[in-house]
Amino acid sequence: MMRTLRSVLRLRPIEFDATARRLSKAASVADLRRIARRRLPRGVFDYIDGGAEDEVSLGRNVAGFSRLEFRPRVLRDVGAVDTSTTLLGRHLAFPLVLAPTGFTRIADPQGELSVARAGARAGIPYALSTLSTRSIEEVRAVSDGRLWFQVYTWRDRGLVEEMVNRAAAAGYEAIVLTVDTAVLGRRERDVRRGFTLPPKIGPGTIVDGLVHPGWTWGFVRAEPIAFSNVTGKSVGDGTDAISLAQYVNDQFDPSLSWRDVEWLRSVWHGPIVLKGIQTVEDARLSVEHGVEAIALSNHGGRQLDGAPSMIELLPDVAAAVSGETEIILDGGVRRGSDIVKALSLGADAAMAGRAYLYGLGAGGEVGVDHVLGLLATDVRRVMALIGAGSVGELSPELVRRRDA
Ligand SMILES: Cc1cc2nc3c(=O)[nH]c(=O)nc-3n(C[C@H](O)[C@H](O)[C@H](O)COP(=O)(O)O)c2cc1C
Repeated sequence: MMRTLRSVLRLRPIEFDATARRLSKAASVADLRRIARRRLPRGVFDYIDGGAEDEVSLGRNVAGFSRLEFRPRVLRDVGAVDTSTTLLGRHLAFPLVLAPTGFTRIADPQGELSVARAGARAGIPYALSTLSTRSIEEVRAVSDGRLWFQVYTWRDRGLVEEMVNRAAAAGYEAIVLTVDTAVLGRRERDVRRGFTLPPKIGPGTIVDGLVHPGWTWGFVRAEPIAFSNVTGKSVGDGTDAISLAQYVNDQFDPSLSWRDVEWLRSVWHGPIVLKGIQTVEDARLSVEHGVEAIALSNHGGRQLDGAPSMIELLPDVAAAVSGETEIILDGGVRRGSDIVKALSLGADAAMAGRAYLYGLGAGGEVGVDHVLGLLATDVRRVMALIGAGSVGELSPELVRRRDA
């Protein structure tokens, strides 16, 4: 009896590091989301997790992937699966780009520095947001990986040009121009909670903070969160607790047009990625304007509600522009299988925002490493299971819509 008992009794070694203990239980992005939800104040979690209005666009981005099923091929010798590919002419360890997200330090004090370091370790690019809470130069100082810089063409074009020049000087490789933000979307979770960036301290926030002591301790010890790229500029540096909607809406320029893409070309001499393309017509116009890549994106469902699901739009866009510009599929990526589906349907890479923010909120920098590790191994495993030994072998025959 003792022998039998001994053969089945396996005590896990005790993990003394609290973060490692937490992360060891996170088998998926959904698990990391649950942990982040527990650790972060509710206002912070909702700012990251939420979308515009009824969150229909947000839900569709995710649901679009589950409506697809694989047509797995077998007996294809997948002894050596190669997940690497190229994007903008350079190597990617696996086909993912870390999306620009503003105010990243809200999830963890290291913020963008952690994401940049984790991206470099994973061998994938990171697009730093205009609204980042670590500056262009601070992020470059900690990473020798691939960095892109995302711009909103604010009313103050001089400021945009200055940021673009700083990105060039710091060796950023591409500019991502976000074009789905003529005005700011209405994120009703933030409205309901009265959530502002930087967070304002009121009775509600104090209670929220007290019940999330880990986050609060990190937050009060770190230097104040600010819009690091614009600190000291006349537009305001964001250290005052004014509402996000007000600050950003004041800077967004609703007169933005294709002429501004040409203007950007005149001040930036590297690749341009247009982020926020949501129709075949605009994908074609992007090609006519000579942009190197487009990101099919509805801003993760945070801008227009009732936008198309990006993965469902992808086949038509790929048919219209494939080979003329590179296509990045953005929105709803929660698993490696989502990335594989996107590539099968014609994307050159996928892009993800919330996935890594959940990791950051759940466990800081090692949380981002954890999520990128999960996604990379997912991609490799799924490719093996559908019979694709390399990214070049991913094709539309491997996927179909369940209702088609
Ligand atoms: C908290 C948060 C902040 C964001 N901030 C920006 C931003 O500053 N600039 C931008 O172009 N997109 C921003 N986005 C959109 C992301 O770049 C990306 O399009 C989106 O997260 C993709 O959807 P996913 O979260 O389902 O992956 C943000 C998204 C989130 C979740």
